[in-house]
Amino acid sequence: MTKRVFSGVQPTGNIHIGNYLGALKQFVQLQEDNECIYCIVDMHAITLPKDPKELRKNILDTAALYMAVGVDPSRSVVFVQSDVPGHADLAWILMCNAYTGELSRMTQFKDKNRDNESAPMGLFSYPVLMAADILLYDSDIVPVGNDQKQHIELTRDIAVRINNKYGKDTFVVPDGRFLKEGARIMALDDPMSKMSKSAESALSRISLLDEAATVKKAIMRSTTDSDGEIRFDAENKPGISNLLTIYSAFSGVPATELERRYRGEGYGAFKKDLAEVVAESLAPIKRSYAEIRQSEELIRALKDGEERANALAEKTMKRVKERIGLGR
Ligand code: TYM
Repeated sequence: MTKRVFSGVQPTGNIHIGNYLGALKQFVQLQEDNECIYCIVDMHAITLPKDPKELRKNILDTAALYMAVGVDPSRSVVFVQSDVPGHADLAWILMCNAYTGELSRMTQFKDKNRDNESAPMGLFSYPVLMAADILLYDSDIVPVGNDQKQHIELTRDIAVRINNKYGKDTFVVPDGRFLKEGARIMALDDPMSKMSKSAESALSRISLLDEAATVKKAIMRSTTDSDGEIRFDAENKPGISNLLTIYSAFSGVPATELERRYRGEGYGAFKKDLAEVVAESLAPIKRSYAEIRQSEELIRALKDGEERANALAEKTMKRVKERIGLGR
């Protein structure tokens, strides 16, 4: 039986190789034998202040990037979250079944919520909107990076809770899908923190549209240890281990084989080769991005995605409202 796959990326610019290796790469693979729905989650992006013009641009940039890495809108549904009212609609119903206690334990909220009193409600309830995204499409599988694990668990908890109250087939209980390699790519300048779109230093990440020279600079300057041995040991050698993971994920060569190949070599030679591997992998993505971003096809694909997503969402909302007793 084909499975329903759902995932999304926030249109916040700077989409990087962590997003690619943790999530986007899976989006492409899963299209082969599943029914996939990929969303540009613009409503998530406004949990923190955004410039409207920039947000609009980032939405189309992100959609073009989905397609440039290989998401095919004729096979998968590609759409913008705010084009489908069902997301906010379902989020409210889920919010009435989520606990403030469980939400206040979300690590992403705790990280961003430095100032208790003025944290926007949306930042707090964000994981419930994410649960709505997933449950709205009766999704079986959610391909994401490790940082979303807690949100997927919350989604499952809410789904099971509502199923127990209103009937066990109200929602499909989804599973997260995490890759062994790539689920948590670390920052290049600080291998103890994850690579992020919002980190101040551009040298902390490699964005998918970076020029080869920028890729090289970030990799050559990346933080490694001083013992000079190319060996995977995430605990004691987080910097070089992160680079081995990136190398392996882009080249398909297992880390153990890379260790063997680079035995006795210095970090410099290894980093230089890695920069080439990454730049070569990004080159075709950049080329096709430039083409797609200009094309009418992008707008057409999103319009088509909007219609297909709405049709699916309306079906779920009808069922859920009936179960809960909403409407006439
Ligand atoms: P976002 O936009 O922060 O990230 C998009 C995807 O990239 C993954 N990711 C990483 N993977 C490996 N290493 C990293 N350093 C790294 N950084 C990010 C994320 O895990 C994610 O899969 N809440 C989500 C978006 C979302 C969503 C959804 C996802 C909203 N609704 C429903 C799935 C299903 C987010 O902020 O991802």
